[in-house]
Amino acid sequence: MPPTDDKQILIDANESGSGSRAAVSVIGLGYIGLPTAAMFAASGKRVVGVDTSRRAVDSINAGKPHIEEGDLDALVERCVASGHLRAVTTPVPADAFIIAVPTPTGPAPDHAPDISYVESAGRSIAPVLKPGDLIILESTSPVGTTGMLSRLLAAERGDLSFPHDAGEEADIRIAYCPERIIPGRMLKELVENDRIIGGMTPRCARAATELYAAFVRGQCLVSDARTAEMVKLTENAFRDVNIAFANELSMVCEDMSIDVWEVIRLANHHPRVSILRPGPGVGGHCIAVDPWFIVASAPERARLMRTAREVNDAKPEFVLDRARRHLDDDAAAILACLGLAYKPDVDDFRESPSLAIARQLTAEYPGRVICSDPYAHTLPQELAIGLDLQSHADALSAAGIVLMLVGHTAFRVHAFPSDKRVIDSVGFWA
Ligand SMILES: NC(=O)c1ccc[n+]([C@@H]2O[C@H](COP(=O)([O-])OP(=O)(O)OC[C@H]3O[C@@H](n4cnc5c(N)ncnc54)[C@H](O)[C@@H]3O)[C@@H](O)[C@H]2O)c1
Repeated sequence: MPPTDDKQILIDANESGSGSRAAVSVIGLGYIGLPTAAMFAASGKRVVGVDTSRRAVDSINAGKPHIEEGDLDALVERCVASGHLRAVTTPVPADAFIIAVPTPTGPAPDHAPDISYVESAGRSIAPVLKPGDLIILESTSPVGTTGMLSRLLAAERGDLSFPHDAGEEADIRIAYCPERIIPGRMLKELVENDRIIGGMTPRCARAATELYAAFVRGQCLVSDARTAEMVKLTENAFRDVNIAFANELSMVCEDMSIDVWEVIRLANHHPRVSILRPGPGVGGHCIAVDPWFIVASAPERARLMRTAREVNDAKPEFVLDRARRHLDDDAAAILACLGLAYKPDVDDFRESPSLAIARQLTAEYPGRVICSDPYAHTLPQELAIGLDLQSHADALSAAGIVLMLVGHTAFRVHAFPSDKRVIDSVGFWA
């Protein structure tokens, strides 16, 4: 069957009201998928979100997001109540599918990309595809994943044609459109950020651009799928390399008894120097992961990116050593770890170096380590086991040693604890 034209997609996608078919279906309702689904729903589209987690689906259908993100609660509640957003565990037919499932890496030393979630998301939508549908992969992916998805779907649906071999004449349109929103500001950035639209063909790119026009006010910059995949990885590898410079500098300065914060402050007065802030390591789902996708594709060439990853991964051990020195020096002192999330003002603990440091110190110094994080109530139970979680005020008053790990705004209510030993890994009080 010939594909429907681009205008038809838009007409279908703008339909709202009841009916079994969705205008937009978002596969994977996590930190990226749920805000995206909610934005499409808020723009008037009928959205069906799909997640393999029953807990996430039930929670969303009750109007309560299972993740904490700014004003997302109110938005999801409104969209579910108006009937524009619902969640299911098995895909239903839709005019556009957006895939936002995890793309982790495997274990060290290779950190090989794991695209199995993208593959199973692809297999799950294959049975409900029809001519004219648009598929957008948003998951951060190794170069070539969008093409792989097209081939995988072709193998599942021999009755449909796909852009990797049918080009512009394909029944299904596929594009790679990476997400670059930042936790804590996701709803705002979804609207305002410029987007990269990597179409497998120009027509695929056009269809994706028109879909995002529902709420995106930033520019939609069109390219091909492989370039768009590389752009996303490049952005995070660039950040990682720059953070590695700051982290390495902090360790060099510490060894030389020089205040790194003063060095950075003064060096940044140079009109062409802008050094980032060191920290206890690099965490989260993106910067600590994505550069490995480039390293895996070009192991011989990507030497700087590999080294940056190694420098950043070594930083927690450096902070641990400083904490151990203080704990060993004063055998009676309690140490308070302030902050466990992977960065300030978010409830996201994935790949958090701070959490890893707190857990390690707790294991090594039983009864002598307490922890505080304003988002600790959202810390997954399995990660909280063994940690002595206390309020910020209680942790500060009990501690003789304060290890500042994450500069949450909530920590600003208390002044610098000048009567304690302080290890400020993020320059919170610098
Ligand atoms: N979180 C960020 O800040 C961020 C920013 C930019 C890009 N990304 C990228 O976006 C992608 C998604 O990240 P996230 O943070 O939203 O992940 P997440 O873990 O928060 O959410 C992923 C969701 O997908 C669901 N899922 C897994 N397999 C599924 C399947 N086959 N079908 C349906 N649902 C499935 C999971 O249950 C989970 O709810 C990743 O590739 C990530 O690298 C994330």
